[in-house]
Amino acid sequence: ETPPIIFNPSLLNLQSQIPNQFIWPDEEKPTIDIPELKVPFIDISSQDSTLEASRLIAEACTKHGFFLVVNHGVSESLISDGHRFMERFFDMPLAGKQRAQRKPGESSGYASSFTGRFSTKLPWKETLSFRFSNENNGSKIVQDYFSDTLGQEFEQFGNVYQEYCEAMSSLSLKIMELLGLSLGVNRDYFRGFFEENDSIMRLNHYPPCQTPDLTLGTGPHCDPSSLTILHQDHVNGLQVFVDNQWRSIPPNPKAFVVNIGDTFMALSNGIFKSCLHRAVVNRESARKSMAFFLCPKRDKVVKPPSEILDKTPRRYPDFTWPMFLEFTQKHYRADENTLDSFSNW
Ligand code: SIN
Ligand code: FE2
Repeated sequence: ETPPIIFNPSLLNLQSQIPNQFIWPDEEKPTIDIPELKVPFIDISSQDSTLEASRLIAEACTKHGFFLVVNHGVSESLISDGHRFMERFFDMPLAGKQRAQRKPGESSGYASSFTGRFSTKLPWKETLSFRFSNENNGSKIVQDYFSDTLGQEFEQFGNVYQEYCEAMSSLSLKIMELLGLSLGVNRDYFRGFFEENDSIMRLNHYPPCQTPDLTLGTGPHCDPSSLTILHQDHVNGLQVFVDNQWRSIPPNPKAFVVNIGDTFMALSNGIFKSCLHRAVVNRESARKSMAFFLCPKRDKVVKPPSEILDKTPRRYPDFTWPMFLEFTQKHYRADENTLDSFSNW
């Protein structure tokens, strides 16, 4: 009898041959030796350089939507705790991780060996996702998630990621002020829109792969969220498609990589871009990243402010975050702009 094929990369990291399901079509296979994407460093602590920062953001976001944020005030120890606890989680035997197994149709939980909505091919990674909401009733949704799904021994995990998500939510509000300024909108407008948010946090673990030229850690996609704040460990992997070419954003432990998602692209009436990106893997080392996806509260209507609509014709219809998310889950295609296909749907 042939043994069953294992579809979990964390169990396949030493194999010299990988199952076909992980082998991507030729036109999507990664190129490793690529130029670096030049992205601005935004110093978010400095009030004096706010104008310069908003100019740099406008320049980056009208082109590709990626920039780095430094002097962000999020403590180094919180970030390293985030990485450390992620390592502890993914180091557990499969059965332990599967206690948090994501169920079909749900956004929270442990996942690997699933075909993501981004492609028919399997990504070389495992992830743990959970919801964050900052509604002001004092509830600690992330803490509760860890204790409820994984048990009381995971209380410390819950504390770390609760605090991390709260820090990400506050940071994203500061970024929203700058995005407002750079779009010529009152600086409180987007901040107010996201003051309460229903966001998602995802921990990504990319095990080493003996054939990194055949597979992808995360296939090419645009983020449906409003804003994504990513922290990469010290291993290369993130690539962005700009000017018809894949370009890398090398890790910088002091910086968060911020990118515009489809929902903010709609809020800016298409002025700021949500850009195609992916993650590659490598032979030597595992790679970890933490992604916070800022998303609107579920009943908020996504519509650009009047300052923008006075100057440019409306591009996308009114929608809410759950409507858009459902659309991307059912109709996503990497070769089309999701917002455009959503508008024509
Ligand atoms: C993603 O875009 O979903 C993952 C990016 C990364 O891990 O660098
Ligand atoms: Fe992404």
